[in-house]
Amino acid sequence: MEISQLNELIRSRRSVFPRQYTPGKQVDDAIITQMLENANWAPTHKLTEPWRFTVFTGKGIHTFAGLQASIYKNSAGEKFKEDQYQKLLSNPLAASHIISIGMKRHAAANIPEMEEIAAVAMAVQNMYLTATAYGVGCYWTTGGITFVEAAKPFFHLDPADKLMGFLYVGAIETPSAPGTRKPISEKTNWIRE
Ligand SMILES: Cc1cc2nc3c(=O)[nH]c(=O)nc-3n(C[C@H](O)[C@H](O)[C@H](O)COP(=O)(O)O)c2cc1C
Repeated sequence: MEISQLNELIRSRRSVFPRQYTPGKQVDDAIITQMLENANWAPTHKLTEPWRFTVFTGKGIHTFAGLQASIYKNSAGEKFKEDQYQKLLSNPLAASHIISIGMKRHAAANIPEMEEIAAVAMAVQNMYLTATAYGVGCYWTTGGITFVEAAKPFFHLDPADKLMGFLYVGAIETPSAPGTRKPISEKTNWIRE
């Protein structure tokens, strides 16, 4: 591999949102499988491999939409808003695949929770980069039911585990504009002696 290709891949990766996906166009399951395989190669302290995923596609997208809307309805209490409920029902429908992002806590490994969250985030970055390499759009959302405790069991997560959001995947109709970042020099100190 040319190092310039790696640099280009990392720096051209963008989040691609559902409004940018081609309606009704499915991403090949084989690409999703490669994204998951690459996720599985993220670094992991004490090899806990804490990433857990559930993939929704086809009619499963409707299952996901109904699931998150009903979890919201049952947990929102007085904060329930009808427009939020309708959004949870309709937003997923533009996606080809939706992958729940879970962190499985390994108490016996005796490592800080932060390390397992970080390992899952690295797994998600691997999926983002793989999608970019295949010309497929995706974005990580921590919206919806991400922080609703009652949602965890539906994703095979226990109370000590974390639901960290959802990766929406779709065929790109409207690409994202190139990204911008402030210089790394503003965020880095070098100590040479
Ligand atoms: C942990 C995490 C959570 C995110 N949650 C959301 C979200 O809830 N809604 C959203 O629109 N974008 C979300 N994003 C995507 C960011 O908006 C996006 O990464 C940022 O705008 C930079 O754009 P880029 O990914 O194209 O470089 C999230 C990204 C990360 C890493």
